[in-house]
Amino acid sequence: MARRFFIQTYGCQMNANEAGIVRTILESAGYEATRAEADADVLLMMTCSVREHAEQRALGRLAAFRAQKERRGRGTVIGVLGCMAQNLKERLVEEQGADIVVGPDQYRRLPELIEQAAAGVRGLVATELTDECYDTILPRPASPVSALVTVMRGCNNYCTYCIVPYVKGRERSRPPASIIAEIRELAQRGIKEVTLLGQNVLAYRYEGCDFPGLLRQVAEIPGILRVRFLTSHPRDLDERLLECLQELPKVCPSLHLPLQSGSDRVLRLMNRGYTRAEYLQKIDLVRRFLPAAALSTDILVGFPAESEDDFAATLAVVAQVRFDFAYMFRYSPRPGTTAVRITPQVPAQVAGERLSRLINLQNRITRERNEELVGKEVELLVEAEGPAGDGLRARTATNKVVILTGPAQVGELVLATVTQVRGWTPIAKRLKTKEQRANGGERFAAAPCSLFPNLEEG
Ligand code: SAH
Ligand code: SF4
Ligand code: F3S
Repeated sequence: MARRFFIQTYGCQMNANEAGIVRTILESAGYEATRAEADADVLLMMTCSVREHAEQRALGRLAAFRAQKERRGRGTVIGVLGCMAQNLKERLVEEQGADIVVGPDQYRRLPELIEQAAAGVRGLVATELTDECYDTILPRPASPVSALVTVMRGCNNYCTYCIVPYVKGRERSRPPASIIAEIRELAQRGIKEVTLLGQNVLAYRYEGCDFPGLLRQVAEIPGILRVRFLTSHPRDLDERLLECLQELPKVCPSLHLPLQSGSDRVLRLMNRGYTRAEYLQKIDLVRRFLPAAALSTDILVGFPAESEDDFAATLAVVAQVRFDFAYMFRYSPRPGTTAVRITPQVPAQVAGERLSRLINLQNRITRERNEELVGKEVELLVEAEGPAGDGLRARTATNKVVILTGPAQVGELVLATVTQVRGWTPIAKRLKTKEQRANGGERFAAAPCSLFPNLEEG
């Protein structure tokens, strides 16, 4: 009988994608995925190290895996995969009872490592960093409509707070031919939307092909209706990319441009490579080329030595830009990064209080941005049945989740009018289909707004 595996995923979209890669690797080796932890012989977790909280949650889950293994007895294999595996290595075996520890570049070894662990070999740690891109492995998409496609892995930026370059290794780009082949295959399986992923997709380069070049090729693939991408480092955003977005209607007008801080002093300490004024110039550029584009961001509060004035500068940029959506985090010191040596640390209570002020401001702006949609016509891609029979869940081109009423199929692109905002969520009523519209000769315009898919610890 095939051995069954269960996989719990934490972390960013790249991890969601890597869980899909692991699934493909194990299924090709004769394993069977199960959603029921109690039925699994192999208990895996895809982990994140970006903040301490992410690691704590995974360690809590690991304790539950151990309890499950004790109940079931011999033969159960517990595996920690991904960024925390790379970060903590042997400690996960010695202190946390993991049977196998597998870093982001070693998933191909999983079948072999699981066999060895099941046969009683202890201390199996595979964490060598290589130039692995899992180029020939098609990850199983989590949704029937939308798929994540990794176009580059690793990061060379070394922002001083961030552990990603240490756990994901050097930046490398996948060959365009295999990216295109993967997306063609996804389109044949019915996928309508792809999100191109990388820690900084704007740094994509493979031989003569840069990111705009890649976007042009992806936008030509039949069956793909929408193309998204993240994350974009503000330093690397230029007119060439924006011209490309203007020319390619399938590429959604939505940019995720992490600000991190609005203070030049803090940005310098973070090694972000731009000033507040340069960031604002990039925003102006986006608005000039793509007036309807949605803007989202990441902001980090309580970075070492952040003063009240520095924080006020962040609030001022947030108020000025009026992001459609923001992920906001309290700084978490990551051992091994250079920011841990910057003094003084901001007391947790002060950082927490600043974070609440920021969240209050941004929540108000997010709601106002959503309310601007009321009465407007939007193009929606239907993603799934809505929560509790409440219509359908759909998304605007500008990445806002909307509840759609009126008949529609999952995977369909429809036109709708936003009638109200309930809480934060716009509610929309279906109009005619886009094709019917086009036949009627009316022009369609997307409305500006955004809700970025989750970039946080699961
Ligand atoms: N490559 C992306 C970000 C990846 S990590 C980029 O450069 O924008 C996602 C977000 O987590 C970051 O944008 C940052 O806001 C946050 N983050 C990273 N390290 C952190 C830390 N040590 N503490 C708190 N938040 C952190
Ligand atoms: Fe981390 Fe900076 Fe790289 Fe983003 S660009 S992954 S924040 S080091
Ligand atoms: Fe790794 Fe993504 Fe977390 S790259 S550290 S899983 S945010």
